[in-house]
Amino acid sequence: MTRSFLIDTDTASDDAVALIMALRAPDVDIRALTIVSGNVDVAQGVRNALTTMEFCGRDDVPVYAGADQPLLRSNARADWFHGLDGMGNMNYPPPRGQAAEGHAVDALVNTIRDNPGIVLVTLGPLTNVALALARAPEIVSMVSRCVVMGGTAWSVGNVSPAAEFNVWHDPEAARMVFLSGLPVEMAGWELSRFDAALSREDIAHVRSLDTPLAHFSIDCNRSAMEAIQIQSGEDNLDLPDPVAMAIALEPDICTRSSRHAVEIETQSELTRGMTIIDQLDNAGDVRNRQTWAQALAANVTVCLEIDVPRWKQMLYRSLV
Ligand code: BDR
Ligand code: CA
Repeated sequence: MTRSFLIDTDTASDDAVALIMALRAPDVDIRALTIVSGNVDVAQGVRNALTTMEFCGRDDVPVYAGADQPLLRSNARADWFHGLDGMGNMNYPPPRGQAAEGHAVDALVNTIRDNPGIVLVTLGPLTNVALALARAPEIVSMVSRCVVMGGTAWSVGNVSPAAEFNVWHDPEAARMVFLSGLPVEMAGWELSRFDAALSREDIAHVRSLDTPLAHFSIDCNRSAMEAIQIQSGEDNLDLPDPVAMAIALEPDICTRSSRHAVEIETQSELTRGMTIIDQLDNAGDVRNRQTWAQALAANVTVCLEIDVPRWKQMLYRSLV
């Protein structure tokens, strides 16, 4: 049976690989791609999404331009990581396709209304989704799963010690989405690290597949690999958006998860965008109500572990 997906993305290098996985999944019908400001500006994000579709031989999925800045904050680009074009400075030629008419926020609302039960996957800051929820709160009950690449379950951030980029970039939007009642499944940054990251051998394996998509997926991540080496000294390539997409495509890629109250820090500069995960259920413990002032119900399913060999096999399959 075909499943309907809607993907919101700030398309840069690892988003592109995640899009390939979804575009090549035989049973997935991507109803729309909605582009948000994040890694790159919206125009570049649209361009990168269209380029990725063309590498997949596809021109059938509408790509909508969306919010060009966070709800309350300034933009902060990740070009030091993904390259000035978001694609490893590969400077791919302009795609033939163009953005669809209309705004991404309208597309989110209309696509969800038209496809009750749709799976929403977010690979960027949550600005577009928050605006869609503000406009049409009833769409919350029409989404069957909302898989969010964002946050970190273990408090080691990639943009600050406390925070992961997507949540940090627009923490107010992330807070709206996490507290909205959407069935959020959080795929934090740490799931893509360590043995889940592509090692030198894994990257050589991808190259050995020798298909245009295999080379594209590594080429566009070349500045990311350099940045990872500088940031953490690790000689590998972590791919947070593709890991989130793997979970969206095959939920049991996530082998350990639990539901928790999750809050987003919006007040402090030091911990801006931190995902505060109540793993010991302090909010549910009446003795702690004084300290956890706004006692929350468990609102998010947090993925804590993935099946690493399966995720990598899934990636490789999508590239041949
Ligand atoms: C997230 O931020 C971006 O750099 C990646 O595309 C991913 O969505 C990881 O923190
Ligand atoms: Ca992204």
